[in-house]
Amino acid sequence: MNGRARVLVTRRVAPEALAMLRERFDVTHWDSSEPIPRDKFLSAIADTDGLLALLTERVDAELLALAPRLKVVANMAVGYDNVDVDAARARGVQVTNTPGVLTETSAEFAFLLILAVARRLKEAMRWVERGRWTTWDPLLLLGPDLDGAMLGLVGYGRIAAAVARRAHAIGMHLAYHSSHAHPDDEERLGMRRMAFDDLLRESDVVSLHVPLTAATRHLVAERELRLMKPTAYLVNTARGGVLDQQALYAALVGGSIAGAALDVTDPEPLPAEHALLQLDNCLVVPHIASASVATRTRMATLAAENIIAVLTGRPALTPVDARPPAP
Ligand code: GLV
Repeated sequence: MNGRARVLVTRRVAPEALAMLRERFDVTHWDSSEPIPRDKFLSAIADTDGLLALLTERVDAELLALAPRLKVVANMAVGYDNVDVDAARARGVQVTNTPGVLTETSAEFAFLLILAVARRLKEAMRWVERGRWTTWDPLLLLGPDLDGAMLGLVGYGRIAAAVARRAHAIGMHLAYHSSHAHPDDEERLGMRRMAFDDLLRESDVVSLHVPLTAATRHLVAERELRLMKPTAYLVNTARGGVLDQQALYAALVGGSIAGAALDVTDPEPLPAEHALLQLDNCLVVPHIASASVATRTRMATLAAENIIAVLTGRPALTPVDARPPAP
């Protein structure tokens, strides 16, 4: 390679990560809080050796075909459904993600959504904002107790396990559905491994923690929502595509579940006029589960470390193809 390797960074990210890359490489930076337009992305990739991409970028066969020098795609996210890993592998391009560094922050937020949706936070805030708070009312905005309620975790990777610890601490009963057994956590948290349908039937709160793959797209749709208790809540901090949103809307309006909290939607962003946003029992936030200062910085620096490793001939720190996606 003549001169310094070239790295493309597709968004404004923590300056620490940019500094690490600039020290070693020629960096092209899409220095914006908006995604790089596809045409600019396609043209910038041509002479790129290392790509720091976000989950908003589609790193697909079309893009990879235009990138003869590309050696590494460092996705600044633990999920990597935006990257065609097989197409990358076929071209000898290493793909990395950011596992581990966002676990506690994301679990904290999933736990916040569990509390918020069950205790009707959106509706309560709207109540005050609309000037309807006229007195203390013993029957106003009642919700369930979570102490003693059952939380069903769909998928049991790092984040689900960290949610389980938090839920256990407030007295929730726990169940999980996963292709892998986790006997230590079952023992420690008094948690049960359950068939998917049984978990849906028995849980008071269902929280989704599976990666988005062909097998998990619309994993929760009309049939699954019907299995849930009419008093149950659904929380999605995984990927929007795991949940059939039209079916969710029907379930929320028809009362077949009590409420939902979504950190992720399909599409993202969700248009402000979207029907789900009009509902008091559907709380939607803009994909911010990992959004603490320290975690977003660490995600960016880990992505940078992966690029530095691969472009200096060392193994990636967190390659995605070294292990199957955690269910
Ligand atoms: C965010 O959704 C991530 O996958 O890190």
